[in-house]
Amino acid sequence: MNWRERIQQITLTPEMTQGEYICRCADKLGIEPRYIVEIGSYRGATAMVFRSWFPSAKLIMVDPWTHKIGDSRDSIAEWENIYSRVCDEFAGDIGTFPLRCHSALASCYCPDGIDILYVNGVHTYEGVMSDLTHWLPKMRKPSIVAGYDDRYSEAFEPIWEAVDETLGATNVWLGPTQTWIHYHDL
Ligand SMILES: C[S@@+](CC[C@H](N)C(=O)[O-])C[C@H]1O[C@@H](n2cnc3c(N)ncnc32)[C@H](O)[C@@H]1O
Repeated sequence: MNWRERIQQITLTPEMTQGEYICRCADKLGIEPRYIVEIGSYRGATAMVFRSWFPSAKLIMVDPWTHKIGDSRDSIAEWENIYSRVCDEFAGDIGTFPLRCHSALASCYCPDGIDILYVNGVHTYEGVMSDLTHWLPKMRKPSIVAGYDDRYSEAFEPIWEAVDETLGATNVWLGPTQTWIHYHDL
Protein backbone atom coordinates (compact mmCIF):
# COMPACT_ATOMS: atom_id res chain seq x y z
CA MET A 1 0.00 0.00 0.00
CA ASN A 2 1.47 3.40 -0.92
CA TRP A 3 1.42 6.44 1.38
CA ARG A 4 -1.65 7.98 -0.27
CA GLU A 5 -3.65 4.80 0.20
CA ARG A 6 -2.53 4.66 3.82
CA ILE A 7 -3.74 8.15 4.65
CA GLN A 8 -7.00 7.55 2.83
CA GLN A 9 -7.78 4.97 5.49
CA ILE A 10 -8.18 7.77 8.04
CA THR A 11 -11.80 8.04 9.11
CA LEU A 12 -12.75 11.66 8.59
CA THR A 13 -15.18 13.45 10.87
CA PRO A 14 -16.79 16.85 10.22
CA GLU A 15 -15.15 18.34 13.32
CA MET A 16 -11.61 17.16 12.46
CA THR A 17 -9.18 20.10 12.45
CA GLN A 18 -6.19 20.46 10.11
CA GLY A 19 -3.86 19.78 13.03
CA GLU A 20 -5.60 16.56 13.94
CA TYR A 21 -5.61 15.45 10.30
CA ILE A 22 -1.84 16.03 10.02
CA CYS A 23 -1.23 14.10 13.26
CA ARG A 24 -3.36 11.22 12.03
CA CYS A 25 -1.41 11.20 8.74
CA ALA A 26 1.89 11.04 10.64
CA ASP A 27 0.50 8.21 12.72
CA LYS A 28 -0.70 6.27 9.65
CA LEU A 29 2.67 6.73 7.95
CA GLY A 30 4.56 5.46 10.99
CA ILE A 31 6.28 8.79 11.66
CA GLU A 32 7.29 9.18 15.30
CA PRO A 33 8.22 12.84 15.39
CA ARG A 34 11.16 14.16 17.34
CA TYR A 35 10.97 17.64 15.85
CA ILE A 36 7.87 19.45 14.61
CA VAL A 37 7.95 22.95 13.10
CA GLU A 38 4.86 25.06 12.69
CA ILE A 39 5.27 28.16 10.52
CA GLY A 40 2.61 30.68 11.50
CA SER A 41 1.53 29.56 14.97
CA TYR A 42 -0.69 32.58 15.66
CA ARG A 43 -2.76 31.83 18.80
CA GLY A 44 -1.32 28.34 19.20
CA ALA A 45 -4.46 26.32 18.46
CA THR A 46 -2.75 23.83 16.13
CA ALA A 47 0.37 23.80 18.32
CA MET A 48 -1.82 22.49 21.17
CA VAL A 49 -3.01 19.65 18.94
CA PHE A 50 0.59 18.73 18.04
CA ARG A 51 1.53 18.73 21.74
CA SER A 52 -1.35 16.50 22.73
CA TRP A 53 -0.61 13.97 19.99
CA PHE A 54 3.17 13.99 20.29
CA PRO A 55 4.13 15.13 23.81
CA SER A 56 7.68 13.79 23.60
CA ALA A 57 8.50 15.67 20.37
CA LYS A 58 10.03 19.14 20.38
CA LEU A 59 7.72 21.72 18.81
CA ILE A 60 9.18 24.89 17.30
CA MET A 61 6.50 27.54 16.83
CA VAL A 62 7.59 30.15 14.30
CA ASP A 63 5.76 33.45 14.00
CA PRO A 64 6.84 37.11 14.02
CA TRP A 65 3.71 37.85 16.08
CA THR A 66 3.67 41.40 14.74
CA HIS A 67 1.14 43.69 13.21
CA LYS A 68 1.52 44.16 9.46
CA ILE A 69 0.39 47.23 7.55
CA GLY A 70 -3.07 46.47 6.22
CA ASP A 71 -3.81 43.89 8.92
CA SER A 72 -7.40 44.73 9.78
CA ARG A 73 -7.84 41.71 12.07
CA ASP A 74 -5.39 42.41 14.91
CA SER A 75 -3.96 45.75 16.10
CA ILE A 76 -0.38 46.27 17.33
CA ALA A 77 -1.57 45.92 20.95
CA GLU A 78 -3.57 42.80 20.14
CA TRP A 79 -0.49 41.14 18.60
CA GLU A 80 1.40 41.76 21.85
CA ASN A 81 -1.50 40.17 23.75
CA ILE A 82 -1.57 37.20 21.41
CA TYR A 83 2.18 36.65 21.84
CA SER A 84 2.07 36.91 25.64
CA ARG A 85 -0.92 34.57 25.84
CA VAL A 86 0.97 32.02 23.72
CA CYS A 87 4.04 32.37 25.98
CA ASP A 88 1.87 31.94 29.10
CA GLU A 89 -0.01 29.00 27.69
CA PHE A 90 3.14 27.07 26.78
CA ALA A 91 5.30 28.34 29.68
CA GLY A 92 5.25 25.06 31.59
CA ASP A 93 5.94 22.98 28.49
CA ILE A 94 9.68 22.48 28.08
CA GLY A 95 9.19 20.77 24.69
CA THR A 96 7.81 23.90 23.02
CA PHE A 97 9.91 26.76 21.64
CA PRO A 98 8.16 29.90 20.37
CA LEU A 99 10.54 31.60 17.92
CA ARG A 100 9.44 35.17 17.36
CA CYS A 101 10.83 35.84 13.90
CA HIS A 102 10.17 35.30 10.23
CA SER A 103 10.25 31.77 8.89
CA ALA A 104 13.37 32.23 6.71
CA LEU A 105 15.41 33.51 9.66
CA ALA A 106 14.04 30.84 12.01
CA SER A 107 15.29 28.13 9.66
CA CYS A 108 18.88 29.24 10.44
CA TYR A 109 18.36 28.56 14.15
CA CYS A 110 16.66 25.18 13.93
CA PRO A 111 18.26 21.76 13.85
CA ASP A 112 18.14 19.40 10.88
CA GLY A 113 16.01 16.27 11.14
CA ILE A 114 12.52 17.76 11.22
CA ASP A 115 9.76 15.16 11.04
CA ILE A 116 6.68 17.35 10.54
CA LEU A 117 6.69 20.77 8.89
CA TYR A 118 3.42 22.65 8.88
CA VAL A 119 3.37 25.64 6.51
CA ASN A 120 0.69 28.11 7.57
CA GLY A 121 2.42 31.50 7.49
CA VAL A 122 2.32 33.74 4.43
CA HIS A 123 -0.29 32.44 1.99
CA THR A 124 1.23 33.71 -1.28
CA TYR A 125 3.50 32.23 -3.97
CA GLU A 126 6.54 34.03 -2.52
CA GLY A 127 5.65 33.09 1.07
CA VAL A 128 5.15 29.39 0.43
CA MET A 129 8.14 29.25 -1.93
CA SER A 130 10.37 30.86 0.69
CA ASP A 131 9.12 28.54 3.44
CA LEU A 132 9.63 25.42 1.36
CA THR A 133 13.06 26.35 0.01
CA HIS A 134 14.35 27.29 3.48
CA TRP A 135 12.91 24.32 5.34
CA LEU A 136 13.00 21.38 2.91
CA PRO A 137 16.77 20.84 3.32
CA LYS A 138 16.14 20.44 7.06
CA MET A 139 13.62 17.63 6.73
CA ARG A 140 14.33 14.07 7.79
CA LYS A 141 13.47 11.25 5.37
CA PRO A 142 10.79 10.09 5.74
CA SER A 143 8.87 13.05 7.10
CA ILE A 144 5.72 15.02 6.40
CA VAL A 145 5.35 18.47 4.90
CA ALA A 146 1.84 19.88 5.21
CA GLY A 147 0.14 23.14 4.45
CA TYR A 148 -3.20 24.76 5.00
CA ASP A 149 -4.64 26.85 2.18
CA ASP A 150 -8.10 27.60 0.92
CA ARG A 151 -8.01 25.66 -2.33
CA TYR A 152 -11.37 27.06 -3.42
CA SER A 153 -10.13 30.66 -3.45
CA GLU A 154 -8.40 32.34 -6.41
CA ALA A 155 -5.35 32.89 -4.22
CA PHE A 156 -4.72 29.16 -4.20
CA GLU A 157 -3.36 29.00 -7.78
CA PRO A 158 -0.03 30.77 -7.07
CA ILE A 159 0.36 28.83 -3.82
CA TRP A 160 -0.14 25.56 -5.68
CA GLU A 161 2.45 26.73 -8.23
CA ALA A 162 4.99 27.13 -5.41
CA VAL A 163 4.09 23.69 -4.05
CA ASP A 164 4.38 22.15 -7.51
CA GLU A 165 7.77 23.78 -8.24
CA THR A 166 9.29 22.61 -4.98
CA LEU A 167 7.59 19.29 -4.21
CA GLY A 168 5.95 18.32 -7.51
CA ALA A 169 2.15 18.37 -7.62
CA THR A 170 2.00 14.63 -8.12
CA ASN A 171 3.79 14.12 -4.81
CA VAL A 172 1.18 16.05 -2.87
CA TRP A 173 -2.14 14.80 -1.56
CA LEU A 174 -5.00 17.26 -1.28
CA GLY A 175 -6.68 16.12 1.90
CA PRO A 176 -9.76 17.36 3.73
CA THR A 177 -9.95 20.52 5.85
CA GLN A 178 -8.01 22.43 3.11
CA THR A 179 -4.87 20.59 4.08
CA TRP A 180 -2.23 19.40 1.61
CA ILE A 181 0.24 16.68 2.54
CA HIS A 182 3.59 15.64 1.08
CA TYR A 183 5.33 12.47 2.21
CA HIS A 184 9.00 13.41 2.02
CA ASP A 185 10.96 10.23 1.43
CA LEU A 186 12.93 10.55 -1.83
C1 LIG B 1 -3.35 31.74 9.35
S1 LIG B 1 -2.39 32.24 10.72
C2 LIG B 1 -1.90 30.66 11.33
C3 LIG B 1 -2.94 29.92 12.15
C4 LIG B 1 -2.39 28.84 13.09
N1 LIG B 1 -1.43 27.97 12.43
C5 LIG B 1 -3.50 27.98 13.70
O1 LIG B 1 -3.65 26.82 13.36
O2 LIG B 1 -4.25 28.51 14.52
C6 LIG B 1 -0.96 32.88 9.91
C7 LIG B 1 0.17 33.27 10.85
O3 LIG B 1 1.36 33.41 10.07
C8 LIG B 1 2.16 34.40 10.66
N2 LIG B 1 3.20 34.87 9.75
C9 LIG B 1 3.18 35.94 8.91
N3 LIG B 1 4.35 36.07 8.28
C10 LIG B 1 5.15 35.07 8.72
C11 LIG B 1 6.50 34.68 8.44
N4 LIG B 1 7.26 35.35 7.56
N5 LIG B 1 7.00 33.62 9.09
C12 LIG B 1 6.25 32.93 9.98
N6 LIG B 1 4.96 33.24 10.28
C13 LIG B 1 4.42 34.29 9.65
C14 LIG B 1 1.17 35.46 11.07
O4 LIG B 1 1.72 36.33 12.06
C15 LIG B 1 -0.02 34.62 11.57
O5 LIG B 1 0.06 34.42 12.94
